[in-house]
Amino acid sequence: MPPPFQVREATRSDLPALARLGARLARMHHRMDPRRFFVLPAMEDGYARWLARERRNRGAVVLAAVRPGRGGREQVVGYAYGRIEPRDWNSLRERCGVGIDLLVAPRARRRGVGKALVEALAEGLARRGAPRVVIQVATENPEARAVFARLGFRPTMLEMTRELRPPRRRA
Ligand SMILES: CC(C)(COP(=O)(O)OP(=O)(O)OC[C@H]1O[C@@H](n2cnc3c(N)ncnc32)[C@H](O)[C@@H]1OP(=O)(O)O)[C@@H](O)C(=O)NCCC(=O)NCCS
Repeated sequence: MPPPFQVREATRSDLPALARLGARLARMHHRMDPRRFFVLPAMEDGYARWLARERRNRGAVVLAAVRPGRGGREQVVGYAYGRIEPRDWNSLRERCGVGIDLLVAPRARRRGVGKALVEALAEGLARRGAPRVVIQVATENPEARAVFARLGFRPTMLEMTRELRPPRRRA
């Protein structure tokens, strides 16, 4: 039986739904550590603008997972976004694909949508010449870490953050 959802390149008309999901992902990270992950009041607008731009970037892959909704209209239930990044001397990372966003709406989880999005993202990045895909996952997100491990990702880096005091003024 074919899956009840489809993963395809995001269209312009998907962008408002993708932006809502992107803002949700940002707020989720902000709740984990408000000092490390920012959110802005108009997060949806920012995401919509950014993803619209990235959709035109030949090195980027912006995908939507859709399923039939009410009245036969497609309903966006998830998205994935990644792009080709050049060699980075600071992190010693060769030119590769970087997976940036992945989110599946809660009501559509645990049905293979996330896996289909990750596989399609990996395929899109490989088609653009990436030898591997690298992602960052919040340490406070053990579910996502488990999902990525199931999908063949190995842990490679750990980000650590310390707050700084403002420098003292000289008298
Ligand atoms: C992470 C996320 C995208 C997974 O989407 P999903 O559609 O539920 O994932 P799938 O159903 O395709 O599952 C993929 C694999 O992970 C496993 N898995 C899914 N959720 C899991 C969980 N909470 N804990 C452990 N394993 C899990 C599945 O069993 C499956 O493994 P299998 O192929 O061996 O059966 C979804 O939970 C989500 O949107 N989370 C919030 C946003 C987030 O954390 N994004 C990642 C930030 S970088």
